[in-house]
Amino acid sequence: MTVSADLARGAEVLEFPQGFVWGTATASYQIEGATREGGRGPSIWDTFSATPGKVFQGHTGEVACDHYHRHRDDVALMASLGMSAYRFSVAWPRVQPSGSGPANPHGLDFYDRLVDDLHAAGITPIVTLYHWDLPQALEDRGGWTNRDTAERFAEYSAAVFRRLGDRVETWTTLNEPWCSAFLGYAAGIHAPGRTDVAASFAAAHHLLLGHGLATGELRALGAKQISITHALSPVRGSDPDAVAVPDGIMNRIFLDPVLRGVYPADVVARASRFTDWSFVRDGDLELISRPIDLLGVNYYNPTFTEPRPGEPANPVFPGSEGIGFPVPDGPKTAMGWPIEAAGLTELLVSLSRDYPGVPLMITENGAAFDDTLIGGRVDDRRRVEFLDAHFRAAHAAIEAGVDLRGYLVWSFLDNFEWAYGYDKRFGLVYVDYATQERVPKDSAKWYAEVIRRNGLA
Ligand code: NOJ
Repeated sequence: MTVSADLARGAEVLEFPQGFVWGTATASYQIEGATREGGRGPSIWDTFSATPGKVFQGHTGEVACDHYHRHRDDVALMASLGMSAYRFSVAWPRVQPSGSGPANPHGLDFYDRLVDDLHAAGITPIVTLYHWDLPQALEDRGGWTNRDTAERFAEYSAAVFRRLGDRVETWTTLNEPWCSAFLGYAAGIHAPGRTDVAASFAAAHHLLLGHGLATGELRALGAKQISITHALSPVRGSDPDAVAVPDGIMNRIFLDPVLRGVYPADVVARASRFTDWSFVRDGDLELISRPIDLLGVNYYNPTFTEPRPGEPANPVFPGSEGIGFPVPDGPKTAMGWPIEAAGLTELLVSLSRDYPGVPLMITENGAAFDDTLIGGRVDDRRRVEFLDAHFRAAHAAIEAGVDLRGYLVWSFLDNFEWAYGYDKRFGLVYVDYATQERVPKDSAKWYAEVIRRNGLA
């Protein structure tokens, strides 16, 4: 299966397993635009990005990549690049403009058409139900700090399934609940922009509860494959406590409840100075740990730690006083994130060791670079190098026995990179925001070739 001679080219090809899924990922608020069309209600990201000082140069998702109007061409472009799958998210406020009650048929129509177009193009749709655009009306009632939001999420998930379930097999409940809970409610750098550590733990729990409740609904309605996607990062450092804090808040607080039915004891103990955990009710963990069929892994970089006495807490990791997060010398992306492909192998191998029995899919990996369009071409060789190294790292994990089902590159298009606005370009396809022209970067053409041969030359 692994290395076979490609005699025609006289080169060795690193092959991936047959049926390996190759594609890209996006999210509703980051690409759709049309925030006031089709009966869509406001989301917390509309509110947050309209708040001065929250997003780079006041950028918003109002127009974004105008994908809402250009989805046909976008799907055609995807098909021309040979993609076998496409992970997109459904905007909850399109489906339930005020977060509850009967589904808005026009909101669902958009995704209905998108799914049909994808199938017609031979591309498998992978749906994410929540990629951060909570209806503002729910935030007004406490957002994820309110237990009721978890119930509403399950209701919304069922409404989406009823419309698309006959044509979509893979359902992801949440994307990166760490960001929703800790960037959104503790650090305040994502919507809804709150800075309340106690609230962030309640939010984390209610997000997980929402996942569990939605999983129950989706299963009962006949969903074939249910998953959840986490932002995961191997944590490095010589001091076990310094490692345990970010590892607990980013990785284990989300993995353990879903896959083991418990909160990690050390995380509970450390967080008890912020919260009494009274939001966890009897039976919640049984709901949260309902079996899933696939675990989505978003990997960007390892996290580096060192003890640093006197250091204030990093707000994205509550309780991290006295811990430094050094960024090592070496290559970095435009986000300033260190490039380390080996971290992906390490992560995949440790996940399949520590949480056995659930197949994995890389639901996001990619990089932002300062791409420029010159003479109709974007020469993004650094992205090609980045992806080549990470694909090899994924292959090494498969060799080591990891059940890895696919690889979705973040992202199909340049898009609204949250608090960074349009300043950071993660796409395989360049977007000229002034004209909405799409230009496949060199990396897109290279990726098409990887997909064609299901491997690397
Ligand atoms: C993870 C998020 O899911 C996605 O929305 C974001 O754009 C990428 N990381 C890059 O930061």
